Amino acid sequence: MCGIIACVGADDAVDTVLTGLNNLEYRGYDSAGIAVQNGRGLAIRKRAGEISDLSGSFVESLPQATVGIGHTRWSTHGPPTDDNAHPHTSRSGDVAVVHNGVIANYAALREELEGLGYEFTSETDTEVIPHLVDRYLEDGLDGDAAFRRTVERLEGSYAIAMLIEGENTIRAARQGSPLVVGLHDDAYYLASDVPAFLEFTDRVIYLEDGDVVAVDPTSLSITDLDGEPVERDVDTVDWSPEETGKGGYDHYMLKEIESQPEALSNTIRGRIDPDEPAITLEEFPPGSFEGITDVHFVACGTSYHAALYGARLLDEAGLRVRTSRASEYTGSVPDPEHTLVVAVTQSGETADTLGALRAAKATDARTLALTNVVGSTAAREADDALYIRAGPEIGVAATKTFSSQVVTLVLLAERVRQDVEPATERDDLGALLRALSQLPDQLEEVIRTSRAEALSRAYEGRESYFFIGHRLLHPVALEGALKFKEITYEHAEGFASGELKHGPLALVTPGTPVFAMFDGVHDEKTRTNATEARARGAEIVAITASEQRVEECADEVLVIPDTHPDLSGLLSNAQLQLVSYYTARLLDRPIDKPRNLAKSVTVE
Ligand code: AGP
Repeated sequence: MCGIIACVGADDAVDTVLTGLNNLEYRGYDSAGIAVQNGRGLAIRKRAGEISDLSGSFVESLPQATVGIGHTRWSTHGPPTDDNAHPHTSRSGDVAVVHNGVIANYAALREELEGLGYEFTSETDTEVIPHLVDRYLEDGLDGDAAFRRTVERLEGSYAIAMLIEGENTIRAARQGSPLVVGLHDDAYYLASDVPAFLEFTDRVIYLEDGDVVAVDPTSLSITDLDGEPVERDVDTVDWSPEETGKGGYDHYMLKEIESQPEALSNTIRGRIDPDEPAITLEEFPPGSFEGITDVHFVACGTSYHAALYGARLLDEAGLRVRTSRASEYTGSVPDPEHTLVVAVTQSGETADTLGALRAAKATDARTLALTNVVGSTAAREADDALYIRAGPEIGVAATKTFSSQVVTLVLLAERVRQDVEPATERDDLGALLRALSQLPDQLEEVIRTSRAEALSRAYEGRESYFFIGHRLLHPVALEGALKFKEITYEHAEGFASGELKHGPLALVTPGTPVFAMFDGVHDEKTRTNATEARARGAEIVAITASEQRVEECADEVLVIPDTHPDLSGLLSNAQLQLVSYYTARLLDRPIDKPRNLAKSVTVE
């Protein structure tokens, strides 16, 4: 996830763009850049590093301008370098573009443009955009037509803002990535999110997918791609600039829980074809894992729970799998030549996980970092990297990155099982991918309809909170307990459903809430153990797609939409995230920064 900002009619475009970028820093902060237009050519400054690096002498030489665009990056393609920073420009330097999203067909477009003699200076997907515009300008199209023709060629997600030398117009388009217009008496703004310009105006237009915008200091045009005008309401934002970054939310954690549909859409974009059915991991074409027989996972905390999820799928596919908490990893790899070691790490900087990764590398096993941060230490040190594309996560408690890790692991598990001997493909791949394509909307429904806030009030102040699940829901139970304890500071534990009776049941007293998850297929163990706990006074909160299946064992139900049993855990997990969040809010905890914790634990 990146942040874009554009302005026309501003008194000082450089200052306006930099202000906007600082207000968007939560959307990404590994590189940044600005382009301004002052009638004597486009002036551009961009570099790797934080937005605060775009200051002093680096921008003082920029001319006084009233039209500008800016970008703060969260890398998805290409590490955070000066060349990969946005804005990206055409070879003439007359077209500058900033972009948030993933151009799914960028490789084919890049090959086409290189075949026409265009030279690329970056590793990003975005750079195809200014070159395409340049190509159509050279074909004789005007700025508007060249931009529309370019947008027609793009597949994937984008929020784009573009400047053309000599034009006092910002052209923009949105598809799958947010883009908002800010209206002021004598200026207009475009940005990924309202905080970018809220200190200048609270009048906004939320653009919709397919909208194309052309704006200059005196006019604003919003049309569809064919140029037909579209009507969009002007809203007034009712929260203050002080809440910027959180976009009006009380906490980043809730914002990030509720942004899971967008994050998951980016995670799966360009990677699944339910009709084929097929999975595409551009970093790992079919055959990438030939010869692998053993897969070891190393991770910590939430990432360890995601690793358990992926490991279970590979285990059921017949591979030899081992999952280690990175701090306990022995580095023992009996058959390094045929072993893939996967380091699952959102930040890519966790010391325990880096230590385990280095120990694995020392055995000559093949290593892969499954991470959210392009250019992170894990991504650079592992033989390969596979990105979860969840966008930056500010809250210390991992939420959207767990979901994106799990989905990426579901896809990786499928690729690995198709490559190894004997190669197997799940017989319900089409059903799984269709369910996966519906998951973002279903997550949206869970978030919108959840009763978690009411339940958090009902169960406030209990002595312990238990979470149980069977099979893929076991790691979700562990994750639910971790989320609960790390932000409420209350005692919580997660178990495999069948484990309660082997000891933990002694902790159950009348009134102990037990959150029990059901996937609709593998539920018997959970049903019987929830019933045993209930017989001892526990209060069972069933998380299920079907209330009547659990009516004999549940006191309360959190409903989730029906989905593939291998994905049900992601919907249950969203319910548990909300239970933890609202319980912590009731207890007035510092939710985004829990005591004693850090977002990335870079010490062992
Ligand atoms: C989870 O909410 C915590 N933030 C913590 O357990 C975290 O998952 C763990 O420290 C691993 O971090 P990583 O994914 O960046 O390696």
